[in-house]
Amino acid sequence: MAETNHHMDIDSDDHTYTARPDKAKSVVVASNPAAAGKAIPWVEKYRPLSLDDVAAHRDIVDTIDRLTTENRLPHLLLYGPPGTGKTSTILAVARKLYGSQYQNMILELNASDDRGIDVVRQQIQDFASTQSLSFGVKSSVKLVLLDEADAMTKDAQFALRRVIEKYTKSTRFALICNHVNKIIPALQSRCTRFRFAPLDAVHVTERLKHVIKAEGLDVEDSGLAALVRLSNGDMRKALNILQSTHMASQQITEETVYLCTGNPLPKDIEQISYWLLNEQFADSFKSIE
Ligand SMILES: Nc1ncnc2c1ncn2[C@@H]1O[C@H](COP(=O)(O)OP(=O)(O)OP(=O)(O)O)[C@@H](O)[C@H]1O
Ligand SMILES: [Mg+2]
Repeated sequence: MAETNHHMDIDSDDHTYTARPDKAKSVVVASNPAAAGKAIPWVEKYRPLSLDDVAAHRDIVDTIDRLTTENRLPHLLLYGPPGTGKTSTILAVARKLYGSQYQNMILELNASDDRGIDVVRQQIQDFASTQSLSFGVKSSVKLVLLDEADAMTKDAQFALRRVIEKYTKSTRFALICNHVNKIIPALQSRCTRFRFAPLDAVHVTERLKHVIKAEGLDVEDSGLAALVRLSNGDMRKALNILQSTHMASQQITEETVYLCTGNPLPKDIEQISYWLLNEQFADSFKSIE
């Protein structure tokens, strides 16, 4: 439960586009070389551009890649905790399908957009039912991306059921969410489901090393280990901690990482437990104070 809350915390405080610079639409910026400057958050700068760049989840990504290549993409439901690459994967698919035409062929809605029953009926229906003039695009099938779909009302989800069926010929739907149990079963059964698990330490380490090298950072092994430990398989969190620690101090060590995140250092905790277990209460209390 603690973990769920923790994940909810991350998502719940920023359900707007502007407050969430790493969200989908801004990916256009990431592919723009002029934007590779210092101001851009690393989560965006190092967002995977192609499916090959997505770390971990090899089996899922390869499956989606194959289906995309063969033009047999089903409706998708990607779910799992934050920062595991769900949005990045779908955007990479869109880029692969449509290249530079990407904006004409994809309708993207997320939690900050109004997505009540009317929006589902109107906006999605309008988009799905219009013929789009697309030149030089590999696929003529359009993509509706519903990010944070677990925040949609039940009514809207029920309305979506019909819309999905009606426009299956011309449109694919990709639903993304953290909590799959908030998606009504009828929608789940219309989609192919993929679960994005938290990244394991090896993949987080690998991806961090890539960024560390690209940015030319000075990171001690203990610092890297601390980043991996504190991020708990959330790649967005790992990159954010790396960047804020880097802004706070030149050298990235275990100590600076813990200082920056406000977590007590493991060696302090060890010392405190040692006192508690080995000394008289009064002495131990004094030492801890
Ligand atoms: N599998 C991954 N490989 C490489 N980078 C990743 C991966 N997952 C996340 N990231 C990094 O974290 C950032 C956020 O990832 P993304 O937006 O894809 O997460 P998400 O799974 O959609 O999270 P949320 O559920 O919070 O929307 C990306 O811009 C990228 O820098
Ligand atoms: Mg996302």
